[in-house]
Amino acid sequence: MCNGGRVPSGVALLTGGAGYIGSHTAVELLCAGWDVVVVDDFSNASPVALERVARIAADHPGAGRLRHHRLDVTDTPALTRVLAEERVDAVVHFAGLKAVGESVEQPLRYYRVNVGGATSLLEAMAATGVRRLVFSSSATVYGEPATVPVDERAPLGPTNPYGRTKLIVEQVMRDVAAADERSRFVALRYFNPVGAHPSGLIGEDPEGVPNNLMPYIMQVAVGRRPRIRVFGDDYPTPDGTGIRDYIHVVDLALGHLAALEALDRLDPFTAVNLGTGQGSSVLEVIDAASRAVGRQLPYEVVGRRPGDVAAIWADPSLAHELLGWKATRTLDEMAADHWRWQSRNPQGYRGAPAG
Ligand SMILES: NC(=O)c1ccc[n+]([C@@H]2O[C@H](COP(=O)([O-])OP(=O)(O)OC[C@H]3O[C@@H](n4cnc5c(N)ncnc54)[C@H](O)[C@@H]3O)[C@@H](O)[C@H]2O)c1
Repeated sequence: MCNGGRVPSGVALLTGGAGYIGSHTAVELLCAGWDVVVVDDFSNASPVALERVARIAADHPGAGRLRHHRLDVTDTPALTRVLAEERVDAVVHFAGLKAVGESVEQPLRYYRVNVGGATSLLEAMAATGVRRLVFSSSATVYGEPATVPVDERAPLGPTNPYGRTKLIVEQVMRDVAAADERSRFVALRYFNPVGAHPSGLIGEDPEGVPNNLMPYIMQVAVGRRPRIRVFGDDYPTPDGTGIRDYIHVVDLALGHLAALEALDRLDPFTAVNLGTGQGSSVLEVIDAASRAVGRQLPYEVVGRRPGDVAAIWADPSLAHELLGWKATRTLDEMAADHWRWQSRNPQGYRGAPAG
């Protein structure tokens, strides 16, 4: 079951390709005919995810081939060898750490992996003459927006170390692109990815207590946690809860495919929002999830979480203009697909039979 289906397009190396967004992107690239080489240290992913990716793509005539290498992206010599041996045409850089709270407690680890990982990759790309790069940036680079929706010209001001690592990497990409005009670099500023592949075979599988709303809701739905925690209902929003732009992970994955296919038409460096352009409140997400699960899910309101902004959603028009891409999946589809994954894999990939 694939969504892509375009012409064969070469070899794409996906760092962090066994993770949540990377595995969904691997499926869409394979289905569109790309050969996919995953580089992952499996620090936050299971090899089972890649077996499932291969299984989804195997049903698709004309799908590309999937290979993987277990390595740390900060290991520049190893990465350089893989880029050369695999004859890579383009890279999508997902690998990194992504928990805002943890980044406040362990900033050096975040700078080492996120900034050090990106500079290591750019060095390996320079050494092997690979000049096409799509980077997982984040809407957190905008911090607390002065106005919504947020477009790419909005002021940048991340409020935590995680967000600053994303902004620094964008700046490094800008500088490297300025030094070599043949570079084709795109930073995709994701809003809030949720949902799962409609097959129910791959999905988000957080370790420990989920930091994000939808995985937390779904762990309540399968009985792993007693009730959903709503962090504050006194924000200046219609129902008092925070508003975010939730985007189906398959739409997001297709955004990477669109970016890879548009790269050669773009400037040396471009930053693009990937969102739906629609905001949903925490209570609206709980309602959508309750509809998907078929019963009202229990929640309690607790205090605000430090660093959370009241409301942010994207202006995604640049992505449409430059990449020809638009998100199409609704909040109800996001909830239904996330629930299919979680209900079939209540413990995620842990203990899951391979294949
Ligand atoms: N999920 C979100 O809400 C969100 C939002 C905006 C941006 N992003 C960014 O998108 C990217 C992917 O996010 P995700 O949700 O798929 O996260 P994830 O943790 O599921 O995936 C990251 C992958 O990178 C791997 N990895 C981590 N450190 C590595 C290293 N040093 N070397 C090699 N592999 C390493 C992990 O094992 C994992 O497979 C991240 O860069 C994240 O910051 C995510």
